[in-house]
Amino acid sequence: MTTTGAKPQGSEDEASAAQAVRQMFDEIAPRYDLLNHLLSANVDRLWWRRAARRFRAILADPDAAVMDVCCGTGDMTMALLKHRPRGARPILAVDFARAMLSRGARKFGARETGKPYAMPIEADALHLPLPSASLDLIVTAFGFRNLANYEAGLAEFNRVLKPGGQLGILEFSEPGGLIGKFYALYFRRVVPAIGRVICGKQGPYNYLPVSVENFPPPQQLLDLMSATGFDQCAWQPYTFGIAGLYTARRALVV
Ligand SMILES: C[S@@+](CC[C@H](N)C(=O)[O-])C[C@H]1O[C@@H](n2cnc3c(N)ncnc32)[C@H](O)[C@@H]1O
Repeated sequence: MTTTGAKPQGSEDEASAAQAVRQMFDEIAPRYDLLNHLLSANVDRLWWRRAARRFRAILADPDAAVMDVCCGTGDMTMALLKHRPRGARPILAVDFARAMLSRGARKFGARETGKPYAMPIEADALHLPLPSASLDLIVTAFGFRNLANYEAGLAEFNRVLKPGGQLGILEFSEPGGLIGKFYALYFRRVVPAIGRVICGKQGPYNYLPVSVENFPPPQQLLDLMSATGFDQCAWQPYTFGIAGLYTARRALVV
């Protein structure tokens, strides 16, 4: 497999791939939450919660600097916020599609309430406007697959994490066996059809199964994580391996 990043149909290089991804999410933003819950029969909520629980020790520290990157409409961010104590530093919620991020921002709360909240930041995951070695935890849910360059994404996450900082990547994968066959049928036929009806657009929900097909299998991504300065790399399958959580630590010494 030679995939190095997302390549939506018609894109020729990384810049045009990123532009196509941003435009696609800006277009589907109004229907994104509805479609997500519908197509996953609400199992997505369980995945976000389970991923957030994995990092509850870090999240419980009010001084921990936490980022949810590719946060979209913010449901992963909200799951992370549940584990933050009162007075905690805000979670940085980063996305480059303004229409997605602005929907998330409506959910994130505000400093004035005194409750844990998140700060929306419109930025590209491959060029984060953050100092090096500034974060304790980066989480990304169903966004990493859309990056135009996976290696560059991991390198950028590594840059902004403190040595020993934690990374969690929640992503779809392709299960094997009979479940895999059913899943492939559902993903390739049913998802694009429902997406087309509800969204009124052909492209985005055709792109979804193709992007999952083209995404490196777990071991390949784990190898890439090790090669970009992470250790303790692991993958935990969720729901028969339909999705899974990659975890890693920025190595203490490079
Ligand atoms: C499938 S949505 C996931 C949203 C959310 N994390 C969730 O779990 O529902 C993927 C998000 O990644 C964002 N994204 C993709 N590539 C990005 C990049 N290079 N920089 C910032 N955001 C990006 C898209 O704009 C989109 O909002």
